[in-house]
Parts: sequence; C-alpha cells; structure tokens
Amino acid sequence: MNYRHAYHAGNFADCVKHALLVWLLRALARKEAPFAVLDTHAGRGRYDLAAPEATRTGEWRAGIGRLLDDPPPALADYVALVQSLDHAAPSFAAPAATAPTASAPLAHYPGSPLLCRALLRPQDRLMLNELHAEEHAALARLLARDRQAHLHRRDGYECLRALLPPPERRGLVLIDPPFEQPDEFARAAAGLAAGHARFGHGLFMLWYPIKHRTPVRAFHAAVQESGMRDVLAAELALREPTDPARLNGCGVLLVNPPYRFEAGAGAILAALLARLGAGEKGAAVTIQRLAAE
Ligand SMILES: C[S@@+](CC[C@H](N)C(=O)[O-])C[C@H]1O[C@@H](n2cnc3c(N)ncnc32)[C@H](O)[C@@H]1O
Repeated sequence: MNYRHAYHAGNFADCVKHALLVWLLRALARKEAPFAVLDTHAGRGRYDLAAPEATRTGEWRAGIGRLLDDPPPALADYVALVQSLDHAAPSFAAPAATAPTASAPLAHYPGSPLLCRALLRPQDRLMLNELHAEEHAALARLLARDRQAHLHRRDGYECLRALLPPPERRGLVLIDPPFEQPDEFARAAAGLAAGHARFGHGLFMLWYPIKHRTPVRAFHAAVQESGMRDVLAAELALREPTDPARLNGCGVLLVNPPYRFEAGAGAILAALLARLGAGEKGAAVTIQRLAAE
C-alpha cells in the first residue's frame, strides 16, 4: 500500500470523479426517503494543498486550480461546494488549519468523505472505509465524532460483501481503488459484481484510470460478462491513451444511473475538458452504454 492520494488530490481525475459524485448525490436527495453512502476506499477526507505532497506534484493547479475562477454553469455547484468546505469549517469537520492565500486560492481540497458528508440530510448515513493506518487516523480526526458517519478499517472489496445492502435499501456505493496493483481492474470488476449481487438496485460508481486502452477494454468486457444491467461508462480523455506511463484520462462506471444522468454527466465532462484539456490529439468525452436497462 504505497499509494497516497495527497500527491494527486484536486487533480483532473479528482475533478471528474467529484463533479459527477456531487451530481449523483443531488439526484439521490431529490426523494425524501433516506439514503446511505458507502465509500470503500475513502482516503483521509481532506487534503492540505500547501503540504509537501501536493506542492511536489502541483497536480491540483492543473485540476481544481483551473476551475475556481468563474466556473462554467455545469461545474458551479461542485466548485462552490469545494470552496465552502475550505473557507468555513463545517460543524462536522475539524477547522481548516490554514487560510487561503493569494498564491494558493484554495487551502484544502475535500476528499469524497467530506463531499458526501456535506450533501447528507439528517436522515441519511455515510459509511467510510480506509485501510491505510495513517489515512484512516486522519479520517477519524475529521469525522469520527460525526453521528451520521461510520468509519471502518478493512479491505475495500470486503466491505462490499460485509456492509451491503444498507438497511435504508437506497443509496450510492463509491468504489475508488488506488490501482497500484496490476490485477486491480479484475478485482474491481469482481468486487462490483459481488456488491451488486447484494444490493441490486443500488447506485454504484467505480472510478478507473485510463493509461492505455487494453486494460480498460478488458475491464468493460468483464463487467458485461457479469450480467449486470443498466451500466454506463463515462470517460474523459486528455489525449490518446498511447503512453501507458501517463494518466491520459479516467472514467467512471455507473450501475443503475439516475434519470437524466447521461445529459448531466455529458455537460459536466464537456465543461471539464474545455477548462482542463490542452487541445491534445485524442482529447474527448465519451459516454458509452455497456449494458441495457
Ligand atoms: C484514490 S484514493 C481514495 C480517494 C477518495 N475516494 C477521494 O475521492 O477523496 C484510494 C485510497 O484507498 C486506500 N486503500 C488502498 N488499498 C486499500 C484497500 N485494500 N482497502 C481499502 N482502502 C485501500 C488508499 O490508502 C487510498 O487512501
């Protein structure tokens, strides 16, 4: 377990994942009935953009850093939420350690736990799982005293078997593994199918990297072979994925996407590409149906 998200927090891949996540949580909140969120690979919950990890890569400057000024309408909700979690410490979170400065317009970038927590209503519940000891400890400092957040420290794929279905029978499962092992695509496809077998009408969102096309094609094929229905893949490519050493794009796989997701995600991804893309050959947004409803 060498992966540390602090090097990448707020980069273009986080923007893709989190802008879509915020859209999905808003869609879930349209109905009054309570929902649960399970975040299987939660990370530390909040990232200090002045920390050595973030300053060493500077990845956030080419991601969220390019969205803060006058965000396009499709990204306005997500960006406003990110900013609100930086400046004003929400009641459920520890106060931000440093204030933003002119050179760093944002002091902290929220991870998926804080974004999810911010969009819970009083009747909703959040299950957060993180295996890494230090990351888990940081997450616990942020949210352990929160009554609506439940923390776990175990293998993320194990959670899909142990914690599903939620008693609410309604909700979102975010699967966001580090993809540092060569078999992660295969484990993710198997984990998703196992989670879906337990929570068939749940909304699943699985993030994946696009370095080269071959593993992504195999992953899509494995998902199709599992027999799950109503599956979409929404992807943003910054360039043609020909150099497997680079993160050339990323995607999310959705099972049971809500009504109008394709239109919402299309607008979000197009706005992200317009702001974050460098006009390289092969830059594109794709929303592909992998299995019919
Ligand atoms: C991509 S990061 C998660 C980022 C987070 N979901 C967000 O959007 O802010 C992946 C996380 O998975 C954790 N991790 C690695 N292996 C794990 C495992 N087997 N089970 C659960 N978490 C794991 C890593 O420590 C890391 O914090």
